[in-house]
Amino acid sequence: MRPRTDVGLVAGTSNRQLARAVAARLRAPLIGPEVERFPDGEIRPTVERVCGGDVYVIQSTGPHVHDHVIELLLLLDACRRGGADRITAVVPYLGYARQDRRRRAGDAVGARVMIDALATAGAERLIVVDPHSVALEAMSPVPMEMLTAVPALAEALLSMPIPADAVLVAPDTGAIRLAEHYSSLLRRPVVVIRKTRTDVSRVHAEGLIGDVQGRSSVIVDDLISTGCTIEEAVRVLLERGARQDITVVATHGILVGRTADRLLSLPIRHLLITDTLHQEPMPGLPVEVESVADLLAEAIGRIHDAEPLTHLLMRT
Ligand code: R5P
Repeated sequence: MRPRTDVGLVAGTSNRQLARAVAARLRAPLIGPEVERFPDGEIRPTVERVCGGDVYVIQSTGPHVHDHVIELLLLLDACRRGGADRITAVVPYLGYARQDRRRRAGDAVGARVMIDALATAGAERLIVVDPHSVALEAMSPVPMEMLTAVPALAEALLSMPIPADAVLVAPDTGAIRLAEHYSSLLRRPVVVIRKTRTDVSRVHAEGLIGDVQGRSSVIVDDLISTGCTIEEAVRVLLERGARQDITVVATHGILVGRTADRLLSLPIRHLLITDTLHQEPMPGLPVEVESVADLLAEAIGRIHDAEPLTHLLMRT
């Protein structure tokens, strides 16, 4: 890739390693602003030099969600006030995306609030990776590029010793489209689990459509947070006679609290995630991390050059 010295990259603190990898691929300068913290908890990020007119602020909004969201909003505002000509928020993992509609009276639509806030703070375009819902694009007042890590993850799966009879498992009906994308690349059948969420941290899997008897499985999801969805999917698969040879693949490894312990207790042979969120080592877990740096770098380069992103986008 030719050097992109005219692209301004600003890295939030949520995942500097990923931002550095993106900058290296683009051969573009990276600004890593200082972030001061006041005694009352407020933060003050300072972008001392907005380099270039076309600026990309890279920040995932996973845990600690609110710190990362506020930091991103302040960075966008700082870039705008610092004279950037055009600002794109690159949010590999977009928190609140699961709140894309009201599930009961009195709910807010958190995804809409989040997207509006980013646009108000200065984002003229958003780049996200495998967001929970494709409905986000229509609710965004600014163009939103919904990239997908599925081709890279499918490629990584192909290099793993996964039996030829393995089925792809959508652990809930919301993951069917995602599973079909994997299926088109891996040529494996899809089975679907019916899941209901009982509260914010509990789910219940009720049944399975398809045949898994004696077969290996690859569970695919957009994200793993508490791991309850995976735990329930594994329970149903084993009840239906699937082999204790299960691979789990998800774009976003949020893995809150004791999720690693929960996953460790399951017969998971491979756990494949990406680096949209910073990952600490998880001893004992068979984790492999595929980087989205190439995907983000190509998207940024193409947007900068006003070229289409078609082959990088989610299938909707
Ligand atoms: C839900 O619809 C998502 O696609 C994931 O399945 C879910 O959010 C995962 O969360 P957890 O790991 O907490 O079950």
